[in-house]
Amino acid sequence: MSATPAGIAEAARLIKAGDVVAFPTETVYGLGADATNDNAVARIFAVKGRPSFNPLIVHVADIAQARRLARWTDLADKLAAQFWPGALTLVLERAADCPLSLLVSAGLSSVAIRLPAHGIASALITVAGRPIAAPSANASGAMSPTTAAHVAASLGDKVPLIVDGGPCKVGVESTVIDLTGDVPILLRPGGVALEDIEAALGRSIPSALDDEEHPKSPGMLARHYAPRSQLRLDALSAEAGETLLGFGPNTPAGTTNLSTTGNLEEAAANLFALLHRLDETATKIAVMPIPETGLGRAINDRLRRAAKRD
Ligand code: TXA
Ligand code: MG
Repeated sequence: MSATPAGIAEAARLIKAGDVVAFPTETVYGLGADATNDNAVARIFAVKGRPSFNPLIVHVADIAQARRLARWTDLADKLAAQFWPGALTLVLERAADCPLSLLVSAGLSSVAIRLPAHGIASALITVAGRPIAAPSANASGAMSPTTAAHVAASLGDKVPLIVDGGPCKVGVESTVIDLTGDVPILLRPGGVALEDIEAALGRSIPSALDDEEHPKSPGMLARHYAPRSQLRLDALSAEAGETLLGFGPNTPAGTTNLSTTGNLEEAAANLFALLHRLDETATKIAVMPIPETGLGRAINDRLRRAAKRD
């Protein structure tokens, strides 16, 4: 359904009735449900086939709403002031009188909260009048959707309504920062560059990803974002049987390119759409090297997980 006021009203009606709805955010499409309703949140897990130990991000319409759900901190204040609305998720302790379903936290005492920078997403949260829990709107383990067509292909028969807001601008999921401990920790690189967060806080932020044995974020399963095709990373050229996915001006002419100018924001925005497209025909995809800076960190994280074979 298109994102007219009537479309948003219908989506909000479904959310209030305890159903799930797919909607656009600036990062990727989300599969949303009323975050205060146990049955509605349980439906998200069922529709995605998501393991119940993996908690969900709760989306809010303003900072005041976030402050009612979680134990707010000075660091949260600083990061929200600078990066909200936007592609940054903050993990905080649940408030004492937190109205959220316990299922969104999957047994943890914390909750992940994000204020999205997308008109349709914030209109939906506002009209529904409640926080919306939403993971990416794909079957668990599959690539994230950056268009309504991706959602329809992955979950179409299981979702009563997909609000179509066109392609997502950022294209990779939000950066997740854990603020529950003594020091902030990066749980997932994403749409806000780590360097920008470090600059805002005036300190370096350790990454839970460096600790493979004990991932702090239950969602950081090694294999994830998986296309059907086999992926080979840091490829300088395609070998026999491979389709090349290029990056930057050194890419051979005629090759699908994440960004011809080597712009990492553009590459992030194109990442899932191009992987979805190549995956329709290729059996093996070779991806050219992407620098591990800025949004390159999120791109490489998704590519490394997609390349893992069990
Ligand atoms: O950009 C995004 O973040 C998108 C859009 C829809 O907002 N959402 C998204 O959700 O990517 P999902 O469920 O695919 O990823 C949420 C990540 C997972 O890695 C999960 O484990 C982590 O956030 N997470 C959620 N709650 C957490 C918590 N309380 N503690 C630690 N990690 C948490
Ligand atoms: Mg996901």
